[in-house]
Amino acid sequence: QRRLSITDIRAMKGKQPVVSLTAYTTPIAKLLDPHVDLLLVGDSLGMVLYGFESTLPVTMDLMIAHGRAVMRGAKRACVIVDMPFASYQETPEQAFRNAARLMSETGCDGVKLEGGSEMADTIRFLVDRGIPVLGHIGLMPQLVNAFGSYRSRGRTDAEVRKITQDAEAVVDAGAFAFVIEGTLEPIARQISEASPVPTIGIGASAGCDGQVLVSDDMLGLFSDFKPKFVKRYAELGSIVENAVETYAREVRERSFPAPEHTFGAVKPKN
Ligand code: KIV
Ligand code: NA
Repeated sequence: QRRLSITDIRAMKGKQPVVSLTAYTTPIAKLLDPHVDLLLVGDSLGMVLYGFESTLPVTMDLMIAHGRAVMRGAKRACVIVDMPFASYQETPEQAFRNAARLMSETGCDGVKLEGGSEMADTIRFLVDRGIPVLGHIGLMPQLVNAFGSYRSRGRTDAEVRKITQDAEAVVDAGAFAFVIEGTLEPIARQISEASPVPTIGIGASAGCDGQVLVSDDMLGLFSDFKPKFVKRYAELGSIVENAVETYAREVRERSFPAPEHTFGAVKPKN
């Protein structure tokens, strides 16, 4: 069995939803891989795994390390790795150099970068040189300092115009699909209907062709905040808490380890 290619993902347009989740580690990638079409090694790992306040401090080295980890766990899903902040915005050449490192050092199927019209030349430059690109428009977390918040987009006529133009720009530039994040339903739906390639929504309604969530959010592992668009499919956080509480109590009362966890256990005298 081989992994789904970006051609397979693009061909899902109009046929079936693209099911996607983030993954950052081998064991989680192994668990998700049989069920999803696309595994995204998102730079959200900066906030979810490393406790950074935004995604901006994430480095190429981190994305490569986690990209390699996810590739070791992925047999079926297409794997896309995020380009971190400041690794692609300078010039198309800089973007190519770093995207090529992500591709060759992890073995992933393509890269994702944030940006619409302003990144179109860069997307084209990468695609023309053999690097598949997943676009990302609407709410763009790497722009949080310029924009000032993570508020949803598409609330003003100017924003609607900008997002619509961004969608056309990334498609024209050759993106095989694109993420629409934090965008009001009517605009996400309209963009999806007009797009020849799949749109993958996060906080962008059922009008998108596919969906993505941060795994740790939907599993209840990351609970610093819960955005409106997240559905908790499990509460792993409280499962972990309960397990650790029990372990701590059993160690303190010396009921763990029991004889069955002990090498050459001394038989109790009677
Ligand atoms: O970094 C990330 O996890 C993402 C997805 C949420 C789209 O970019
Ligand atoms: Na991201």
